[in-house]
Amino acid sequence: MTSLAPLFRPHRSRRLDLRNRIAMAPMTRGRADDATGVPSPLAPTYYRQRAGAGLLITEGAYVNPLAKGGPGIPGIHTDAQTDGWRAVPEAVHAEGGTIFAQLWHVGRMSHPRVLPDGELPVAPSAVRIDGASIFTQDGWVDHVTPRALTADEIDQTVRDFARAAENAVAAGFDGVEIHGANGYLIQQFLADNTNRRTDGYGGSLQGRLRFPIEIVEAVVGAIGADRVALRISPDNDENQLAEADPQETYRALVDAIDPLGLAYLHILERGRYRAIEDLRPRWSGTLVANHNGPTPSDPQAAARLIEAGHADLFAFGRLFLSNPDLPARLASGTPLAPAATHGVYGGGADGYVDYPAAEVVAA
Ligand SMILES: Cc1cc2nc3c(=O)[nH]c(=O)nc-3n(C[C@H](O)[C@H](O)[C@H](O)COP(=O)(O)O)c2cc1C
Repeated sequence: MTSLAPLFRPHRSRRLDLRNRIAMAPMTRGRADDATGVPSPLAPTYYRQRAGAGLLITEGAYVNPLAKGGPGIPGIHTDAQTDGWRAVPEAVHAEGGTIFAQLWHVGRMSHPRVLPDGELPVAPSAVRIDGASIFTQDGWVDHVTPRALTADEIDQTVRDFARAAENAVAAGFDGVEIHGANGYLIQQFLADNTNRRTDGYGGSLQGRLRFPIEIVEAVVGAIGADRVALRISPDNDENQLAEADPQETYRALVDAIDPLGLAYLHILERGRYRAIEDLRPRWSGTLVANHNGPTPSDPQAAARLIEAGHADLFAFGRLFLSNPDLPARLASGTPLAPAATHGVYGGGADGYVDYPAAEVVAA
């Protein structure tokens, strides 16, 4: 059995001063007020319960009205949403934790029933997801064909990311993680099957990289590089993405953003391309790793990855749902709780803030 000790070494960099190498991966929980996008009043409790992680990353928060992908997802573009977030970093900081807000635009992964005034989702190009449905207020429905963003709208979206990042800092977050993974808008620009543009935002590798790089640069300009992170999932075919040459694409992306000095790069590995090992030598800053497979990420594998120097931190998602005190359990060898089965998306306290810490179970 591998020792989990590498997970419990502190990690320090210019902005980050983390007590362990365990991150809580961003996880949508669908409990915000659907009409306003204001986070749930239970969110501070939920994140505080998990503040033993060295680094917490919030659920994705939408950066403008068309960026929203489903019911109960929080936003971070209005004053009310920003105010609604304040108690979350406050609660995590009170426990000595560090928390970044994830900034999200879903692109074509939305639906007129989710968007204001029944608007069509937007994307790099009008390419529809076929044969899969999307969850809305009215249940599961077929995807629609999105409309392509205009060049002006692309500029505005870049500014919206920067503005959302300013809101996150105003709300007290330590930084932001730009969601460039899992087949959402940023990855839709990177992937050749979803980006069919012939203007400067498509048509070539440089074209496909342009929107993601512009967003990173704009967010860095707004709040400073050491508060900015990017999440990517090279070769991830979720949400009908198909990247013809992920190694070429992501090597070029990483080479372009490495000199900016971001707080961290978060690589979710899923697919044939061994992105973490391939990209690590090209990234001079902190690297957060995550594996997305049918079973939750394995702490033993995470410890080995850190020990081998391929990653500085490892982000756990599903294990944190039912184990709010995951780091303490791993450190003490306390058995983990069974996987969460109810209340994962949507609802109230049930399945959200009612998983006890291990001491409480034992009492
Ligand atoms: C309930 C749930 C919600 C998720 N929401 C997000 C999200 O908002 N943003 C994101 O980047 N990834 C999201 N993910 C993916 C996780 O961050 C993570 O990559 C995935 O769960 C694999 O890690 P694990 O094996 O440790 O669970 C979500 C996963 C789950 C289970």
